[in-house]
Amino acid sequence: MTLSVEINKVKFPHPVFNAAGPKDVTLDELMVIGRSQSSAILMKSCTLEPRDGNPEPRYYEDEFGSINSMGLPNKGYQEYGKYTPILKATFKKPVIASVSGMKIEDNVKIIKFFSTIQELDMIELNLSCPNLPGKPQIGYDADASDKLIRSVKDVCSKPLGLKLPPYFDFVHFEQMAKVINKHTPDFVTCINSLGNGLIIDAMKEETVIKPKGGFGGIGGDYCKPTALANVRKFYELLNKDIAIIGCGGIKSGIDVFEFILAGASAVQIGTHYLKEGPSVFERCVKELEHMMKKKKYSSLDEFRGTLKVIE
Ligand code: DHB
Repeated sequence: MTLSVEINKVKFPHPVFNAAGPKDVTLDELMVIGRSQSSAILMKSCTLEPRDGNPEPRYYEDEFGSINSMGLPNKGYQEYGKYTPILKATFKKPVIASVSGMKIEDNVKIIKFFSTIQELDMIELNLSCPNLPGKPQIGYDADASDKLIRSVKDVCSKPLGLKLPPYFDFVHFEQMAKVINKHTPDFVTCINSLGNGLIIDAMKEETVIKPKGGFGGIGGDYCKPTALANVRKFYELLNKDIAIIGCGGIKSGIDVFEFILAGASAVQIGTHYLKEGPSVFERCVKELEHMMKKKKYSSLDEFRGTLKVIE
């Protein structure tokens, strides 16, 4: 049996790795991901300058998932440029940078820089951070997304992906798919957190996080049906040479199996990595293997996208 996946010549031994965000800010945290069975190391979304992020408490989890309003705490892009050769030499698996500049020119500058880092395998451009007061998620504006992708494509010499927000309306899927197909990135990641949710502590009659009046991005179980729908819809609408990476509520090998059935080439784990720790990757891969054995599949290609629809 093989679980390997290839996205524009970048080889992953299996389809399960960490999502951008949870515990991937510092080199120490990235080393933990490196030592785990995560099939790649995806680094925290970065900006030009280092940032401390929003005031705490800014992360909370309950039995169904999480809410976060971290506010992009990160070391600044140059640090991630320094970490990359260390991570690559130590762990010999794909290293992926996540880019979330505050404006087009920042994204261009950061992606130009990452294009010069030989050991870096891929770049995920974030179109969907919901936690910056006063800054809309660019992925909800097809024209602004078009302009941003066009600008960074010109300077990017690495495989490039887009981290998309969740969409809920077929017309919005179609508008965005048109833009994405025009620029043919190597992959899209569906989805970022469900933006601006609200979790309340009833006993305290209070919000559970401090920034933005308690509003934040929702992750975990809350997201899975929306994430699956986004993977499926983009699998239907995008050119077949654009890979789809699923993200949202994955915590078992059966979840991974479902995302691949819907059309995903690989998956990322965020909330559940924070909940369970680094063992989540190995466990999900083992459970996926078990499911494939039961179903007599010997590769992911045999069932990717083959979801049956009730006639
Ligand atoms: C943050 C949250 C996100 O969902 C994202 O895509 C980027 C950054 C944050 O709050 O740090």
